Amino acid sequence: MVRIICKGLYKTYDKAGTKALKNVNLDIDAKGILTLIGRNGAGKTTFIRILSTQLKPTRGKVILDGVDVVSQPEKIRNKIAVIPQDSSLVPWMTAKQNILVYLLWRGFKYKDAVKRAESALDTMGIREYADKLPRKLSGGTRRKVMVATVLSSEAEIIFLDEPTTGLDPVSRRELWNILNKMKEDKLIILTTHYLEEAEELSDDIAVLDRGRLLRVGSINQLRKSIGYPYAVRIFDGGLKIPGIRGKVIKKDKDTLQIFCTEKEADRIADRLIRSKARFSINPTSLEDIFYMLIGDIKEDIHEKEQA
Ligand SMILES: Nc1ncnc2c1ncn2[C@@H]1O[C@H](COP(=O)(O)OP(=O)(O)O)[C@@H](O)[C@H]1O
Ligand SMILES: [Mg+2]
Repeated sequence: MVRIICKGLYKTYDKAGTKALKNVNLDIDAKGILTLIGRNGAGKTTFIRILSTQLKPTRGKVILDGVDVVSQPEKIRNKIAVIPQDSSLVPWMTAKQNILVYLLWRGFKYKDAVKRAESALDTMGIREYADKLPRKLSGGTRRKVMVATVLSSEAEIIFLDEPTTGLDPVSRRELWNILNKMKEDKLIILTTHYLEEAEELSDDIAVLDRGRLLRVGSINQLRKSIGYPYAVRIFDGGLKIPGIRGKVIKKDKDTLQIFCTEKEADRIADRLIRSKARFSINPTSLEDIFYMLIGDIKEDIHEKEQA
């Protein structure tokens, strides 16, 4: 468990005056995988860069694992490793040399570095590519080499900024499996804009929007926090159910979606069974939670009733 505390965190980029983070407050005992989600420009990369000591905030406090990362960055650096957004391998070095150089730079002795690099290549299942140059590797394999780089170090907290962006579905799933293995003994902090990925992988999810931290918690905590943990879908647009308590959304002319509590879901289900309507009930997805939080889902129950 790694405690992360942020108090009144602000970041304004001087030149443009862009307010990338606005009063972010957080106190979490993070374990496993913590995922930051949010649309482009939400502040995810800025937040990762501050947490990983690459960038100073304009204002505010950040305590990572008991260390004040703003005033004492050198005290946490050997515990963390980062793969920045859009990072790439050194093109004229082989996969293994890329990992080796990183380890030497981190201060490992050559012999130890070789052992660690080889073991990381094995763990990632990419030993056969050890002596290949990056341009000879697929995008998925290149990404795995980068993950092998941070995996090979002694770091306990790993930051990955959009590790799966642009990967094909198979490579993406392979990387998920690797992250799930890595999280057994490391804390992984990653960003993604694939919401189904965040839902499947994360122990905790932080939702950022326009520089503000809207919510943090496990998917179940997020479901509870919005007050609508269940989603009922009715595949019969003409059906009338009086007195629905929840958020009602008309998906298309035949499909109605209702976000509600468990009790209300039960009540609606009863009625639907009696009317022999086709329907489904699921826990509310992260995608729906996200759009509710950023205010992009509008209730149109009234329109529906008038229609
Ligand atoms: N180095 C920078 N200089 C000026 N503005 C920046 C810089 N980096 C990011 N920004 C701006 O800060 C905001 C947040 O960016 P970022 O943290 O990269 O968001 P995300 O990773 O969620 O897409 C955006 O409006 C972006 O344009
Ligand atoms: Mg980013």
